[in-house]
Amino acid sequence: MSYVVVLLSLFSGCIVSAEYQPTWSSLDLRPLPSWYDEAKVGIFLHWGVFSVPSFGSEWFWDHWQGAKTKEYVDFMKKNYRPNFTYQDFAPDFTGEFYDPEEWARLFNASGAQYVVLTSKHHEGYTLWPSKYSWGWNAMDVGPNRDLLGDLASAIRSHTPHIHFGLYHSLYEWFHPLYLMDKANKFHTQTFVNSKTMPELYELVNSYKPDVVWSDGDWEAEDWYWNSTVFLAWLFNDSPVKDTVVVNDRWGRGIPCHHGSFYTCTDHYNPGVLQPHKWENCMTLDKHSWGYRRNAPATDYISIHDLLTELAMTISCGGNILINTGPTRDGRIAPIMEERLRQLGSWLGINGEAVYKSQPWTHQNDSLTSGVWFTQQEGTVYAIVLSWPRGDVLVLGSVQATPTTHISLLGHPSDLQFKTVKKGLQVALPPMSEVDGQWAWVLKMQGVESPNTIDTPFSM
Ligand SMILES: *[C@@H]1O[C@H](CO)[C@@H](O)[C@H](O)[C@H]1NC(C)=O
Ligand SMILES: *[C@@H]1O[C@H](CO)[C@@H](O)[C@H](O)[C@H]1NC(C)=O
Ligand SMILES: *[C@@H]1O[C@H](CO)[C@@H](O)[C@H](O)[C@H]1NC(C)=O
Ligand SMILES: *[C@@H]1O[C@H](CO)[C@@H](O)[C@H](O)[C@H]1NC(C)=O
Repeated sequence: MSYVVVLLSLFSGCIVSAEYQPTWSSLDLRPLPSWYDEAKVGIFLHWGVFSVPSFGSEWFWDHWQGAKTKEYVDFMKKNYRPNFTYQDFAPDFTGEFYDPEEWARLFNASGAQYVVLTSKHHEGYTLWPSKYSWGWNAMDVGPNRDLLGDLASAIRSHTPHIHFGLYHSLYEWFHPLYLMDKANKFHTQTFVNSKTMPELYELVNSYKPDVVWSDGDWEAEDWYWNSTVFLAWLFNDSPVKDTVVVNDRWGRGIPCHHGSFYTCTDHYNPGVLQPHKWENCMTLDKHSWGYRRNAPATDYISIHDLLTELAMTISCGGNILINTGPTRDGRIAPIMEERLRQLGSWLGINGEAVYKSQPWTHQNDSLTSGVWFTQQEGTVYAIVLSWPRGDVLVLGSVQATPTTHISLLGHPSDLQFKTVKKGLQVALPPMSEVDGQWAWVLKMQGVESPNTIDTPFSM
């Protein structure tokens, strides 16, 4: 492979490189661009016309088409005139408080290294003025603004280290050409050839995303979506061919099998080390991707729960993509803003256990629950999710050596430790002497994993 690449680059200019073929076996050979694994933390944004009603969870929108639930019927009957259509929501998608620079500063303050915005959700409304979505895009109806382009520019000019990525739904609930192809059992590709594919090429050429996060693939096979043809172009010839990463939702049966990283199912968090790079896409609002006006504070996950998800995810080789749903007028609600700022303050102290880290020999401790490990350049980090009784932590999966040093991030001095029957006992300082809260990180140099043969005797 590398020999071919060298030859192609020697003759570049007269040879059109075709390193990747439109087959999964070829596409799967592409190495993962390094920025993605190093980044660990991303922000997901679900924003669109569904942010206008901002009621009910995503099932509410799933049921818009046909099987209308009682809750939906009652809500519409009570609050909207008869025969109100989904399209009628769009004029109220106004975005008058949308300040993309402010968003960029907030994402930066959260410690996130990438952002993924819904360029188009299942409703088909595009947040950019797409040529292929006439009359159903953010320039033509609603805010009369290129919402997507303005976020891309704000991030690139104010927080250029943050990678800009885009979510894109392949299918559209209401598009007549999609419904026609579906009625033809996907033997015709009218929708793909006239809408999805032209739109995806336009999106990548215009906005150069470093993530193409595909969704809405599940009703048809990958060949219907022309997924591999698009991906071969993306990896060989697109303006982002060297930096772009893609997820795995490219057709029925593809998730968890092909893609730069696997998302498998929403909220995927397997709790054990995975052989392929993966991502946990999860939500701050436990019940919805889009903003819900009627969500009480208890429907949002706590900062402790968020840090638990983060620790578990990165220990097992994943990235975490944390979803927020902005409001129809362009705000990120204070409760979500607070969670993101809390996360950023924690990462400000403990980031060296997260960014650029790798999974260790053990993912979580064998003795004390709620302790998750990462490693970086020979140093092992233990993310401790609850402060131990009596300020004493015992780790069953770590063994000291003559060169061991242990400290706590956010605390200046080395910690005392000794080997006890059950494992390694570490004396923590009083909690009041430690910067930071919610979860703590032990930094351990010169430690090993215990010899598993000894384990039955040392327990
Ligand atoms: C709503 O639609 C029905 C069926 O299309 C029609 O008969 C009725 O007149 C419409 N009502 C209003 C208020 O437009
Ligand atoms: C981004 O975050 C870093 C670290 O918190 C901070 O030093 C920097 O000023 C922030 N940049 C912007 C543009 O907010
Ligand atoms: C999709 O694939 C079909 C069959 O290979 C091909 O004829 C068509 O041109 C492709 N469309 C696009 C937009 O790539
Ligand atoms: C470690 O994680 C696994 C998988 O999530 C879990 O089954 C196990 O109980 C955890 N171990 C401890 C000691 O909590």
